[in-house]
Amino acid sequence: ARRCDFFTAAQGLDHLPPPEGIEVALAGRSNVGKSSLMNALTGQNSLARVSVTPGRTKQLNFFRVEESPLTLVDMPGYGYAKASKAVKEDWQGLMFDFLRGRPNLRRVLLLMDARVETKASDTAVMDLLDRAAVAFQLVITKADGVKPGALARRQAEVEALARKHPAGHPLVVTTSSETGAGIEELRAELAALVA
Ligand code: GTP
Ligand code: MG
Repeated sequence: ARRCDFFTAAQGLDHLPPPEGIEVALAGRSNVGKSSLMNALTGQNSLARVSVTPGRTKQLNFFRVEESPLTLVDMPGYGYAKASKAVKEDWQGLMFDFLRGRPNLRRVLLLMDARVETKASDTAVMDLLDRAAVAFQLVITKADGVKPGALARRQAEVEALARKHPAGHPLVVTTSSETGAGIEELRAELAALVA
């Protein structure tokens, strides 16, 4: 893995870094494992803050991959039931506006928990990305948390979603930040994006 450096956090859209290079954003429900995947991809365990408490990541965090035009963006999660309505709307607004309006956003990795069913908030994000014509790739997380049969069913479900959405990349990558499963495959996908 290439080294990666945190370079800025944006609380709001007026604080975004200039849109340089190629960005790939990690999006998904609160607690799905975005920050953990960010760390697994870069091989740096304490790069992005991971937490058992949902709603840990509250800003857009930008990480530049060294010697590469790639910047990874760790996003706040959506769909956290216990957040106040105002907080939820703030997060959601920031996230949606960023996903829709970022000119150098090459792809969104949209993370789906292997152990949780697809929620309306997930399909709402896919619809938004379809409308904005922003390519997204579905990534299953926490594959270590389910038995093989259940994992196969979840994969089939998520692959069907990818096929259904025009902006969805056909390849679904199944990962575990715990065991490292799928991490090399995802790194190769990212490398191909910037090649
Ligand atoms: P927010 O920033 O709050 O939206 O969460 P997040 O999507 O960044 O999730 P985070 O990486 O903080 O992980 C949430 C919890 O899931 C933590 O307790 C992690 O240890 C756990 N977790 C993340 N990835 C995996 C995985 O691959 N397997 C297992 N078993 N647990 C995981
Ligand atoms: Mg996080």
